[in-house]
Parts: sequence; structure tokens; C-alpha cells
Amino acid sequence: MSGGIDYLERFEARAGLITWDVEALGRIDVAPDFARILHAASLLEDDTALTVLQCNSFGFDRLEDLAPFLPQWQAEEAEHARALRTVVGHQTPAAAAGQPGRKRSVDHLIARVPARFIGRRSPAPFVFCALGATAEYLATALYSELANRATAPVLTRLLRSIARQEARHLAFFLAAARVRGQEMSSFDGRLSRGVLGAIWAPIGVPTLGREAWLELFAGWLDDDHLRKRLEKMDRVLDSIPQLAGMELMGTFLGEVA
Ligand SMILES: [Fe+2]
Ligand SMILES: [Fe+2]
Repeated sequence: MSGGIDYLERFEARAGLITWDVEALGRIDVAPDFARILHAASLLEDDTALTVLQCNSFGFDRLEDLAPFLPQWQAEEAEHARALRTVVGHQTPAAAAGQPGRKRSVDHLIARVPARFIGRRSPAPFVFCALGATAEYLATALYSELANRATAPVLTRLLRSIARQEARHLAFFLAAARVRGQEMSSFDGRLSRGVLGAIWAPIGVPTLGREAWLELFAGWLDDDHLRKRLEKMDRVLDSIPQLAGMELMGTFLGEVA
């Protein structure tokens, strides 16, 4: 990679914190089930800070595209967490009860990429970008679905603007993964597939635990439209060189259905 990086430029052109109405969002009531999902989402948004710390310790902050991206990404996700907390922070004790807690806070996906794979020419940044693309794809789908289900217009607006930002994150990770996949040897490609197959889980599962995750989204997985949207994640992965045919989401849905 040399010269201007087009996908970094596209990301930077539209980077910036989302705007949201703290007064109005601090006043609305949401159903307890909905509040639980928003609360869980805010935990996942906060996990970005840990991911970025881990990326920095692996030296990803010295890579031409990831160095400028990571701090901006972290700031944008932190703003999502802040806005979501404003909505759930004042809900009734009944809504707050039973909110999922963090199961693991440090054992994040990227920490499970074996350290010996880390290095300038290693597949680790490729695996990270592919993981990022799957996470951002699912985040985009989750927030657009939440926006459709929200009843307060001010909450719908917030969730839509978060979804749009997640889509921009997806575009960055996908492009960064495609460039790396293209330049990578098939040996490193096979290594990356092995690592991804071993550590991938849908966003939220490592943090909340599989049981709490399934409980949270129980009704969602029976929704045909949403299921199709989740399954489409595998087509996104297929579009990354070296990663075609992995069927990560298909396998997961087959296991939990
Ligand atoms: Fe986010
Ligand atoms: Fe994101």
C-alpha cells in the first residue's frame, strides 16, 4: 500500500461524531426488552476501546491505513455508547433488572489472534479487518432493525444515524481486508481462514456469553427477514479474497436454530 489510500480518504471525508438530542433522548420511555438490547449494545460499543488498545499493542497503529482509522473509530463508537446510555440510563428499575452484564471484558476476539501471527507481513491485520467487517455488518443490520422497531421518532433518528456510521465502518474494514487478501499468499490465506474459523462469533457473543446473547435475540432469529439479513454476512465475507465459502454465520445459525 502506498500513496493515497482511497478507502481511508472516503472514511475520513465523512468521519465525525453523530449528533443526537440529549434532552429528548433522556426523556423517552422504551419497553424493557428493547432497553435490554440497547444496554447490551452500549457495552459492545464500549468494547471498542479495548480492541483498539489490543490493536496498538500488536502494532496495528503503525500501519498506514489503520493508524489514522483506529482512534477515530474508537471516538465514534464511544459516542454511540454515550447516546445509548442516555436512553437506558433513566429507565424504570423493572426495565433495568435483568440487563445482561459483561461476561468477559478483556478476552475480546482480537486478543485471541495468536501473538506469533502478529507482524508487518503477517495475516493478523487481515484477520482483524475481516473480523471488523463482520462485526460492522452485523452492527449495521442490528441498528437498522432497531430503528424500524423503535416507537419514539427521536430514538429512530438516533438508531438510523448510528446504523449509517456502522455502514461507513463496514466499508473501511471491507476495503482494508480486500486489499490485504489480494496481496496475501495462499498459505497465509489458509492460515487466516483457520484462525477466523476458530475464533469468530457474532458480535456480542464473546462479551455477553452465548446463552445471554440467544436470550436477548430469541425472538429475532425467528424473523425470516432478519435471518436472511444475518445470512447475507457470509456473502460479504465471500467478497474478500481468500475467504470465500467460509459460511461462518450459516454454521452459527445452524447450530443455534
Ligand atoms: Fe457503534
Ligand atoms: Fe462501528
